[in-house]
Amino acid sequence: MTYLLALDQGTSSSRSIVFDAEGRIVAVAQRELTQIYPRPGWVEHDPMEIWNGQLATVREVLDKAGLQPADIHAVGITNQRETTLLWDRKTGQPVHHAIVWQDRRAEPLCAQLRADGKAETIREKTGLVIDAYFSGTKLRWLLDNVPGARAAAGRGELAFGTVDSWLMWQLTGGKVHVTDVSNASRTMLFDVHANQWDAELLKALDIPASLMPEVKPSSAHFADIDAALLGCGLPIGGVAGDQQSALFGQACFEAGMAKNTYGTGCFMLMHTGGAFQPSHNGLLVTSAAQTSATPQFAMEGSVFVGGAVVQWLRDGLKAIQGSAQVQALAESVPDAGGVMMVPAFTGLGAPYWDADARGTITGLTRGTTVAHIARAALESIAYQSAALLQAMSRDAVAAGGMPVAELRVDGGACVNDLLMQFQADLLGIPVVRPEVTETTALGAAYLAGLSTGVYADVGQLSKLWRVERRFMPTLSRAKAEEAMGRWELAVRRATLV
Ligand code: G3P
Repeated sequence: MTYLLALDQGTSSSRSIVFDAEGRIVAVAQRELTQIYPRPGWVEHDPMEIWNGQLATVREVLDKAGLQPADIHAVGITNQRETTLLWDRKTGQPVHHAIVWQDRRAEPLCAQLRADGKAETIREKTGLVIDAYFSGTKLRWLLDNVPGARAAAGRGELAFGTVDSWLMWQLTGGKVHVTDVSNASRTMLFDVHANQWDAELLKALDIPASLMPEVKPSSAHFADIDAALLGCGLPIGGVAGDQQSALFGQACFEAGMAKNTYGTGCFMLMHTGGAFQPSHNGLLVTSAAQTSATPQFAMEGSVFVGGAVVQWLRDGLKAIQGSAQVQALAESVPDAGGVMMVPAFTGLGAPYWDADARGTITGLTRGTTVAHIARAALESIAYQSAALLQAMSRDAVAAGGMPVAELRVDGGACVNDLLMQFQADLLGIPVVRPEVTETTALGAAYLAGLSTGVYADVGQLSKLWRVERRFMPTLSRAKAEEAMGRWELAVRRATLV
């Protein structure tokens, strides 16, 4: 038997999953990660907790699978993206907590970049909009605010990395300082056309090039794990940011293929092949996971509040006791009874981009019950995702391609059949749930399997992707369009709040 081990270091937890070569899950281990909120709008993680927690899950998953480290053929790493770390090359000690992707502290630096007229250059080179979400301005903040950091960086003593780089540094006892193209593309410092750090952007942000890791394709030999850690030196053969890894694990390898991950937020990515396809609808261009030096791209849009709306029903509204109850409550009424919820708790992302929008519930009558509100909350996840997919399809058609033909789904909330059916109804295309919905980890395992000869090519991986359930649209297009029209009206109200 051939086994692949995926390390999936996410925002809320560190996980390790062992897969067999057919892509089936053998065992899973998970550790929660402490969220640190030093000030409003700031979010941090303890880098040593990330590392120690991740290593603990590796040991635990091998134990659960009844395997020895030497039974593992290769290791893949996938990670929360954009989260920014800076550490001392000699001691391996972080100079500060990791600044998490959700952290907004670098917004003033972004405003300065916008005022300096950098938006177009950054969009052309990196595919991104200027935003505090990405690593570049977070790194600049660390250099400006951690005492002694800039001087130490000037002496070449420090290393920057996203979580993948940090884990590989630790896994190799500091032997490698490396990342992959998909993680690099989220820094706002990386030229996605040339697949290299961009000297002009580094200069604009006053970041010394000596801080930056080497960049490799996502499927490559990154390093061997230090034999002292596990008892043998396993090869790390694949690395990708979690959303690009999920796109890979969903076997979306060709232009026009799209996936949506229903987590706390929703991340939708559509592969655009070798084409850097700028969006006219507020979406980002990002590097897809790459198996060679040839650039591959995806369009990306995110919904800030996806599954989090169910948490709000539970913790804020106290309408349910556990998240699993939401489907039954929503199904206790035939529809939302005209209620529309726009969960713009933290503004609205693509395609609306309105940071000032706030949540609304409209259409209330004397007959409205908490069940209608629960149903409207669930439906809001599908409405927001539908608006994203429609924007992607418009971009694809404008670029001479075809609209998206089916949506592959994964993430925690994709187990909700009511939500998936409503998603298909709104979109008018099949919504397809695979047998293995741990596609983020699976993508990393596949990338590692490809570079180490377990798989010959991506064609073989496409054959391993198996459908668990296909949700076919049942609503007429006229009714779906009417529903989307009501949603857009509700969004307009939310943006006026
Ligand atoms: O861009 C942020 C994303 O990579 C975080 O994903 O699943 O860790 O919340 P997740």
